[in-house]
Amino acid sequence: MSSDEQDPNHVRIFDTTLRDGEQSPGISLNTAEKLEIAHQLARLGVDVIEAGFPIASHGDFEAVEAIARADFYPHPPVIAGLARAQAPDVEAAARAVRDAERPRIHTFISTSDIHIVHQFRSTREDILAQARAAVAHAKSYVDDVEFSPMDATRADLQYTAEVCAAAIEEGATTINIPDTVGYTTPEEYMAYLAGLYRLIPELKDVVVSTHCHDDLGLAVANSYAGALAGARQIECAINGIGERAGNASLEEIVMLLKTRGDISEGLHTTVVTKELARTSRLVSRLTGYVVQPNKAIVGRNAFAHESGIHQDGVIKERTTYEIMDATTVGLDANSLVLGKHSGRAALKQTLAELGFVVEGAALNTAFKRFKEIADKKKQVTAMDLEALVTDDLRNELASYTFDSFMVAAASGREPHAEVTVTLPDGETAAATGTGDGPIDSVFAAINAATGIDAQLRAFRVDAVTGGQDALGESSVVLQYEGQSASGQGVATDIIEAAGSAYVRALSNVVRKVQAAALAVDIGAGEPVPTP
Ligand code: KIV
Ligand code: ZN
Repeated sequence: MSSDEQDPNHVRIFDTTLRDGEQSPGISLNTAEKLEIAHQLARLGVDVIEAGFPIASHGDFEAVEAIARADFYPHPPVIAGLARAQAPDVEAAARAVRDAERPRIHTFISTSDIHIVHQFRSTREDILAQARAAVAHAKSYVDDVEFSPMDATRADLQYTAEVCAAAIEEGATTINIPDTVGYTTPEEYMAYLAGLYRLIPELKDVVVSTHCHDDLGLAVANSYAGALAGARQIECAINGIGERAGNASLEEIVMLLKTRGDISEGLHTTVVTKELARTSRLVSRLTGYVVQPNKAIVGRNAFAHESGIHQDGVIKERTTYEIMDATTVGLDANSLVLGKHSGRAALKQTLAELGFVVEGAALNTAFKRFKEIADKKKQVTAMDLEALVTDDLRNELASYTFDSFMVAAASGREPHAEVTVTLPDGETAAATGTGDGPIDSVFAAINAATGIDAQLRAFRVDAVTGGQDALGESSVVLQYEGQSASGQGVATDIIEAAGSAYVRALSNVVRKVQAAALAVDIGAGEPVPTP
């Protein structure tokens, strides 16, 4: 046990970006992308990474196993796998996390009558027995077992207490109280936890956890109230992603505890706050979920001052209008780092400082792209480099690649595009297309070249940094055979960025269609419903 875990005021940060966050519509991270995020979460210093829901699909299992096997030296976080309170789920989670230095099984079942009657079509007695059996089963594999009574905040307090007491009796070491549908309020959640402490004397011997959804915009406030009521683990996700309106945002809860330490009874986390902005950008890039400009802590405008009075105040004394310093969350990373005369060693060193270990062929690719960009852009910033390295990672993973394009567009004439794409078997395919605009015609040509009739559901282009010579970053969401997936691309030319994003979204959506077909082929039946 580390000294942090013995510290009674240490609030553990349980990150569920890769599990609850990944359940957001349109997000489809593959194993390498999840690993990249897991490494960044470890650098950020989270205490627990919920890596996925191993029984949900082969892809989920593989990703949890890969994260459990990864080397997170020197501070390996706990790696948790989610399991319904059923034997096959618990066994899959146990297999997936078994190689982790610090494995955890997180099992859950609902205690609200609304779920017991309508979803489980069961009885309180049966649910209690299932919870007990699942925790005991999980405990036969790992010491560290978390139990969640799902929809607890809409459930009878007495009954939830009875189920949690049984879970503790069977060896649960963490009891998580989910506000599954984002229904509770800070006062109510505090009173609910106080009620549980009153009804279950053993609750003080385990870690109590919060898991709050944001349907009423109260997820962070409720999590904070939970910590004041005694919880010492907060479940949250980067950028607040997750089911529906999402989970409590990790960066907000961490900065709330840091900034208002004066009234938080000494509660603190061990998160390295300087890594927050970068983690937010990585998750946004890989998931395709844009961070709203006015998002607290990590939004583009979170530290921008528009009104003259505010600007005047901040110039004279920063604290007149800023309660946090942008540098504490890592938002100062956009200073110039490299120029066009910088060499390979400087690039490698700068990437290492940014937390990327890039060597061998990957370094050659990164260097080639850096030179291309440096020729076009006067300044190559840390944010540009991050965008490039993440972009190269996507290319390595895509089964289709966007090789080249030619577009003819003029006023009064229908745009026309020619593209070449490398197919999964290594063959090159060329095709032409027309559309409403140059980018639309490139998308039509890609569909023709790959023979995949995907439908465009969302499309965006943003600038990575400011300035006229900024890199363009594009995100595309596609629908195909009942599945949807996103892809992202970065380039100085926005048509190239959009084409890359489209082809990567195509790779992701085809992978999802194939995984869904495989689940049926192997007799797994319907995909496992996610919580
Ligand atoms: O929202 C929820 O209740 C969950 C549980 C699995 C903890 O995600
Ligand atoms: Zn949830």
